[in-house]
This record gives sequence, structure tokens and C-alpha cells, in this order.
Amino acid sequence: THSFNRRTALLGGAALGTAGALSLAGGGTPWTWSPAGAVPGEGTGKDPHDVWDPDCDDVVADLAQKGDIDKVNRLLKHWTRNGQPLPAGLPKDLRDFLTEARRLPAWADHGKLAAGARFNDKRGTYLGIIYGFVSGMMSTVIPREARAVYYSKGGADLKDRITKTAKLGYDVGTSNAFAPDGEMMITCVKTRLAHSGVRYLLPKSPHWSSGAQPHEKLPISQADMMVTWHSLPTSAMRQFRKWGVPVDRAEGEGFLHTWQLSAHMLGIKDEYIPATWASAESQARQVLDPILAPTEEGRRLASMLLDLGHNLDLSLLSRGVLGAITRYMLGDDIAGWLRIPREPVWSPLLETAWGPYVMVREGLLDVGLPPKAYWLFDEFLRQFVLLYMSELRLPINITIPVYNNPN
Ligand code: HEM
Repeated sequence: THSFNRRTALLGGAALGTAGALSLAGGGTPWTWSPAGAVPGEGTGKDPHDVWDPDCDDVVADLAQKGDIDKVNRLLKHWTRNGQPLPAGLPKDLRDFLTEARRLPAWADHGKLAAGARFNDKRGTYLGIIYGFVSGMMSTVIPREARAVYYSKGGADLKDRITKTAKLGYDVGTSNAFAPDGEMMITCVKTRLAHSGVRYLLPKSPHWSSGAQPHEKLPISQADMMVTWHSLPTSAMRQFRKWGVPVDRAEGEGFLHTWQLSAHMLGIKDEYIPATWASAESQARQVLDPILAPTEEGRRLASMLLDLGHNLDLSLLSRGVLGAITRYMLGDDIAGWLRIPREPVWSPLLETAWGPYVMVREGLLDVGLPPKAYWLFDEFLRQFVLLYMSELRLPINITIPVYNNPN
């Protein structure tokens, strides 16, 4: 079936003993990925499980100790465009840090960005659902991320958190994402600050110190960030391959480039950022596939996510349909972990008709799909885009958190 792939095989191995799965989830996988496959082609080779983001972390910890976070969040609120000067009144250390952090690296390639924009333009609708149902749902079976999100402020207001994450997913796909009038660079830098805020705050949560985070000194290591990164572009590319969506080589590389630059702007060190799709795959096989596992926190997050469409007047965004889509996209094993049941109408419909639907939509096939199925999938995509766009209508401001999940 569609869910039998390499990942299922790997997970089958991990599922042999819960103890095994837990020790992997704790970060026990040794890092052997070579920096020869990274953007600069070289590096220290240091294990990224023990590397965080010290430059940003120090600045943010200092602001937190001085009680300056609220003030800084207010000052940065209207700082949104890549080319926009920094607001006046920022503390000097922060200003110096942001002046560096907002710069594109020398390896930014405008030709590749143009190709990436073409890819996003053509594949934007699919990418919207992939970021939601593949990346977003996958984050609930990435144990460290699920626990970090659950016990931080975002866990108490998941809708707000999703809206902010959706902004990043939207910005990276805009044609001017890295141009002076775009917003992706600032969105990334603000996220980098938010992550430092989490590294400062989360270890103070009783849930953290009670051993919920085994083997981890601080949250959101460089390795953790690469895991999450693979849940985005690498997993998206895997879906396109699985569905048989043709991807032009240059456009696919351009899409990768938009995410390489995003990683850099998020504070990920270049020596951990894969240079090519092949090296991204090899890294994902090492860092992403083996660590996926259920947690109680992840289950609760997934359940909250499935309810996000529910009080909208959009009939196809019900819990049952969203669950069926998650099951179809991520496979039966992960759906089982998240206790998402098969849905009697949508599960079989997706299994038999989604592949042909995509082929028809791509103009690669024009027979064999019942019009009703075509209409339903089209309507689903339409309602999902509506939801997405309504969430993005208001200005969205990513801030440095000042408290953990109080619940
Ligand atoms: C915050 C994206 C990696 C945990 C955020 C925000 C964005 C984001 C856009 C701002 C949302 C908000 O303020 O509510 C990303 C991206 C990543 C990444 C693109 C990697 C490519 C990680 C990892 C973890 C993590 C690896 C944990 C292991 C968190 C937490 C927050 C946050 C706890 C703060 C939520 C809150 O307290 O409101 N991230 N993230 N992130 N991220 Fe990440």
C-alpha cells in the first residue's frame, strides 16, 4: 500500500521495543553525516546535538534578565520587510546581532531563487496542504519538538502558533521572499529570536526538569532544527515523488535553495545544511526517519490540530476528513500512533483516487477518475486555501516568548 515505504520499515524496527524507540527519541543517534555534503562542502563535523545558537541565545538571555523582552517585541513589531532599516531604540547588543543576522549569505543565488519562485508558483496549492498535513502533523511525532511546543507558550494557544508557522510557510513561497520588499528574511530572524527565548525559558518549566526531555541540555539544538527542516522541504519533495508530480530539475533545486537560505537565516550553521537533494535525503534518513515516535504530548497536539477547522463554515474541514488526509499523507503507522481512525468514506477515496486526481490535475491523465471524486478533492483544496488565506489576512507578528505554557 502507499504507506509501505522505507520509513515504515525503519519504524517497524524501532517498534520492536518501546525502550529502543525511546532511546532514539532521546537523541541517541550518533551523528555521522559528513560536512562534505553541506553547502560549504566542509566544516568542523561537530555533532549538532551539542550545538545551539550561542550568539543569539546570549543576546536574548541578557534581554530576558534585564526584563527587556516586552519592550523589544514592541519595537520589532513593525519591522517586517527584508530591506527595512532596524527601528530606533533597540539595545546595542541586539542591534549589532540583528545587523549581522539579517544579511543574506554570500552563497545566495538569485538564478536559483527565480527557479524556486517558479516552483512555488506552480506547486503552491500542493505545498499548502503538504506543509499542513505532512510537515505540521509530522511535528507531533518528532518527540523533542512536540514536547517543546506543548510545554511552551504555543502549546497553550495552538491556533496562534499555527498562524505564525503558516506565515513562515507562506513567506518562503513568495516570489520576493529574499528580496528587499519581501518578508521571509525577517520572519526567519524573528523565529531565531523566538527559539532563543524558548532555550532560555523552557528549561525553567517543571515539565522540562521532571525529565520530559531526556538527554537534552537545552532545547532546539542544531540537530533538532535540521530534523524539523527535513519535515518541511525534504518531506515535501518525497510527497511529490510519491504522487508522481513531475518536478523540473532546476525548479526543484530552486525550491531547495529557498529552504537552504531559510535554514541559514534561522541560525542553522552552513555545515549542517545539505547542498543537494541527494545529500538532504541522506541526512534525513539519518536524522529524521529513525527518530519519529509517538508521545503523549504529540498526541494531544495532533488532536488539537484536527479540531482547528471545526467551527468554520467549511464542511470539508471536519475532524474526520482532516484525519483521513493525515492518515493518507503520513501513512497508517503514524496515524495509528496519533490514534487517528480510518474514515469510512474519505480514507478509501484518497487511497484510490488521490493519485489519479493529481495526474488529471497535472494534465498527465484524462480518464478513469469519477467526476465526483475530482469535484470533492478540488473543493477540499479550495476550502483549505480559504482557511489558509483567512488566517493570513491579519498582520502576524512573531515575538520572543516571555512565559511557558501555564497549564
Ligand atoms: C517558534 C518555525 C525548529 C520549537 C517558532 C515559530 C516559527 C517556528 C515560525 C514562531 C511561532 C510562534 O511564535 O508561535 C520553525 C522552523 C524550524 C523550527 C521553520 C526549523 C526549520 C524548531 C525545533 C523546535 C521548535 C527543532 C523544538 C525542538 C519551537 C517552540 C517555539 C517555536 C517551542 C515557541 C512557541 C511559543 O512559545 O509560542 N518556530 N521552528 N522549533 N519553535 Fe520553531
